Amino acid sequence: MHFSMYNLFIILLFSSLLQCGMSHTHYKFIVKEATYERLCETKNILTVNGKFPGPTLKVHKGETIFVTVYNRGNDNITLHWHGVHQPRNPWSDGPEYITQCPIKPGDKFRYKVIFSEEEGTLWWHAHSDWSRATVHGAIFIYPRPGAPYPFPLPDYEFPILLGEWWKEDIRKVLQEFVASGGLPRDSDAYTINGQPGDLYPCSENGTYTLKVKQGKKYLLRLINADMNEVLFFGVANHNLTVVGTDGSYTKPLKRKYITISPGQTFDCLLEANQDPGQYYMAASAYINTTIITFDNSTTTAIVEYKGSYDKSIPPVMPYLPNFNDTTAAFDFCGTLRSLASEEHPIDVPLDVDHKMVSTLSVNTLPCDTNQTCSGPNGTRLLASMTNNSFVLPPIDILKAYYYQLEGVYGENFPDFPPLEFNYTADFQPFYLQTPNRATEVKMIKYNEKVEIILQGTSLVAPLDHPMHLHGFSFYVVGYGFGNYDEIRDPPRYNLVDPPLQNTVLVPRNSWAAIRFKANNPGVWFMHCHFERHVTWGMETVFIVRNGERPGERMFPPPNYMPPCC
Ligand code: C2O
Ligand code: CU
Repeated sequence: MHFSMYNLFIILLFSSLLQCGMSHTHYKFIVKEATYERLCETKNILTVNGKFPGPTLKVHKGETIFVTVYNRGNDNITLHWHGVHQPRNPWSDGPEYITQCPIKPGDKFRYKVIFSEEEGTLWWHAHSDWSRATVHGAIFIYPRPGAPYPFPLPDYEFPILLGEWWKEDIRKVLQEFVASGGLPRDSDAYTINGQPGDLYPCSENGTYTLKVKQGKKYLLRLINADMNEVLFFGVANHNLTVVGTDGSYTKPLKRKYITISPGQTFDCLLEANQDPGQYYMAASAYINTTIITFDNSTTTAIVEYKGSYDKSIPPVMPYLPNFNDTTAAFDFCGTLRSLASEEHPIDVPLDVDHKMVSTLSVNTLPCDTNQTCSGPNGTRLLASMTNNSFVLPPIDILKAYYYQLEGVYGENFPDFPPLEFNYTADFQPFYLQTPNRATEVKMIKYNEKVEIILQGTSLVAPLDHPMHLHGFSFYVVGYGFGNYDEIRDPPRYNLVDPPLQNTVLVPRNSWAAIRFKANNPGVWFMHCHFERHVTWGMETVFIVRNGERPGERMFPPPNYMPPCC
């Protein structure tokens, strides 16, 4: 009797320890250089555990994991868990000089990654200079143990990571770009799961091949991990049925092609319902501009059916829209809808406490005598949100906020553009091109319902901007071409089943309206997910204050954060 009571006690103790988080999975990420051969050349790239793309993390909804990052490379690094809300835990969010100082070569840092509402596909990537070009990987988030998918169970699943490859060392690409004041050099290839594919020199042997069986269903977890381009993606002779985006479920959307911005993810079902054979999947750039160059090549992988057929017949190419087809791009993006079912309800704020309008602009700076100025008319290119080109501080903003260090950042990021003008006019006066340069953040009260109108402008170069917010997912409640109109547009918002995203593509010379409830105290970065625009300052920081109750406050810092100097 005594003995069994004791046993019961041990079992209870053990299971409560498990619930207290003793069971968290730990991962070891070793950041190091590895040699890769692509496009007929060999080069060293930065990797995690020697892999490109890096390892896939697989978790269940609501789980917490630890990832210890050992920096065995030669440069500073941080990692970010793109789309993971990290409730109350900005300490492990990752953006360099925003929530932490970098992990130096030889040092290590343990990230605590807290999953909450996310379900579907997200990804992780470096958030330090341009190292994310090769340092990234997928995150699969399964339903809670025992819970079903809200779609027919796929037979198999695969990550499909779209990337971008430079023959030049990526550090050099960044250095040259910053020094020049102009545009970065174009990439030499796009990649699917690390491989450029058959249309590039010396690439056929490595082409990624997805082996399928006729009659089976496949879940493709599609991630755009590239640096500077929105991509069109499709599979020849097969439809893709989108069932999720950015870690939340959507109404099924059946399409021949997908428009995917850097940062975005899509869960796509593919049915192997064609004659046994080989079919290309392919991706190429979407960019509606005539004034800048871009990598106009096409990456391919092969969907290869099992069975006997003539394998010497070359695979069929899928239909992809033209690079400048904005209508095609938004036929897709604008049709996404939240699942909004009983099991997966939505929670879109129906009214707003804190409204903002933020212009997204490419800008120029007049040339200083000691600088190279390869921008238009001998200027240097910059970019801004609300006319504020963000300057990274030398100490991370989270530390400065938590320890109340003076002089690191200001709290004057404006709610509205300092000057109203016709944002999308064909011609803009030259004086509008020069932005403010400062480290200004936006303070937000706990639980405020926030609406941001992201308004593209035609300054210097009207372009699409994939805008990403850390710490939250937001509802995309409206889109429109031209200037946002306070009277005309809000009544047309979708407040019934707007998609829940962490990255929204704001079309060129257009606007998008996003809403979220600021229920996650912390320091959260918002930025364009084009790497060249981040470097130019198209970003800001939201500091969401603590609430009143204990569960509404930021966690204290872990006992080790990388030092700033
Ligand atoms: Cu995909 Cu700031 O991140
Ligand atoms: Cu941008």
